[in-house]
Amino acid sequence: IFAGRFETERTYIMIKPDGVQRGYVGEIIARFERKGNVLKGLKTFQCPKAVAEEHYQDLSEKPFFGDLVEYICSGPVVCMVWEGPGVVKSARKMIGATNPLESEPGTIRGDLGAFYALVGRNVIHGSDSNESAEREIALWFGGDDELVDWTPTITPWT
Ligand code: PPS
Repeated sequence: IFAGRFETERTYIMIKPDGVQRGYVGEIIARFERKGNVLKGLKTFQCPKAVAEEHYQDLSEKPFFGDLVEYICSGPVVCMVWEGPGVVKSARKMIGATNPLESEPGTIRGDLGAFYALVGRNVIHGSDSNESAEREIALWFGGDDELVDWTPTITPWT
């Protein structure tokens, strides 16, 4: 992929149970595709408690940790690996602020987050750094056989 001054990298994106149940899977995938990112992995997954606890291990001291784990395991999530130039940061921008009430219009949480939802019920997760992305991809995807290494063939507009 032509990356210009941005590194081509991968990020872990997860549509949380509220995003799945409110019917936002297609809308969210479309936004990542429109941005030109490449989908390397995708699955529906009922998360066991241990995986949610490991994913959010840095937050284990937070008062909301138990609630967060319970929420992530409350229904299926959709796990994705997206690749693109600077995608870790651009995905975080597309996702918007943690609290849907504070996220900007145009962002996923700003557009799709419900005003009545609790702070953490925010539709989607995106890795916050390259290190987190690689850790999270390894955690949520069983190995490279669950991911496809491919590159789009033509980009006539570059
Ligand atoms: S913090 O407190 O600074 O670590 O918060 P933040 O970095 O914004 O959020 C880290 C993840 O914790 C989730 N979160 C919450 N869950 C439940 N209840 C409350 N009150 C809450 N506050 C934050 C938040 O959605 C982040 O999850 P991810 O999946 O990484 O976006």
